[in-house]
Amino acid sequence: MVGNPANPNRALVTGATGGFGRLFARMLEERGHRLLLHGRDQARMDALLAELARPADHAAVLADLADEAGVAALIRASREHRVAGLVNNAGFGLWGRFPDVPAEGHADVLRVDLLAPVQLAHALLPSIREARGFIINVSSLAGVTPLPHLSTYAAAKAGLTFWSEALRVELAGAVRVVTLAPGPSPTGFRAVSGMPERTGDFFRQPAETVVRAALAALDRGGGMVVPGWRHRLLRLLQAVTPTPLALRLMERALRP
Ligand SMILES: NC(=O)c1ccc[n+]([C@@H]2O[C@H](COP(=O)([O-])OP(=O)(O)OC[C@H]3O[C@@H](n4cnc5c(N)ncnc54)[C@H](OP(=O)(O)O)[C@@H]3O)[C@@H](O)[C@H]2O)c1
Repeated sequence: MVGNPANPNRALVTGATGGFGRLFARMLEERGHRLLLHGRDQARMDALLAELARPADHAAVLADLADEAGVAALIRASREHRVAGLVNNAGFGLWGRFPDVPAEGHADVLRVDLLAPVQLAHALLPSIREARGFIINVSSLAGVTPLPHLSTYAAAKAGLTFWSEALRVELAGAVRVVTLAPGPSPTGFRAVSGMPERTGDFFRQPAETVVRAALAALDRGGGMVVPGWRHRLLRLLQAVTPTPLALRLMERALRP
């Protein structure tokens, strides 16, 4: 093809400066990918690049995905690199009683966790499809049951899961789509959300388990993945617990 063909090796990882994102970057590099790394903070990006084996192979973009101009800048950079893979990983939640979290905070959660992934996938699909590439959407088991005191986060992840699963079926045979739905993992997520650290969370699993499971699902051709036995047990409990009871239990567990 003339012009600027899709680069079959270039993958964009959003939120690459955080817990899961860092591991996606490291493991995709091990698989031979060149990366377009996204984050917001130059110092954290420099630290990530210093950790990688072939930093000169990678490019970096700083952009706030809660900001329309940030999403547009990331789309521009990704189009220049004609990415073949997209890991929609950046995300955060804000814990607290609904009225105590500022309206802009709720809106930002929806922008970063739901709107930006949809916009990125739509904009980058031509090069991803040309390369018969992939999309990994990092959703959450928080998208399975409504979560009092994390209401907007759970709503954003429920939306992301539904969208990702529908996309997976629409694009079957052309683009591999993974919908990743982890439970709790020790990353920066809890501190950013404002939730106090809870030691001894039985369902917590290492971030490595989560990211490896996503890449294994990619190798199988895509799919919805709940990683590791602890998260799968949590998913089973969600499935057998009637929603009214789950809501009461979660309200008590997450009450500020
Ligand atoms: N850890 C868990 O228990 C858990 C469970 C299920 C799902 N998840 C999901 O996993 C994904 C990754 O989170 P993590 O657990 O690895 O948390 P993390 O360590 O806090 O990393 C989050 C990443 O997202 C980026 N990000 C946050 N807000 C952003 C914004 N407005 N614009 C651009 N980038 C932004 C962060 O950038 P900065 O470095 O600049 O902050 C960071 O790179 C998220 O989608 C999260 O919802 C996490």
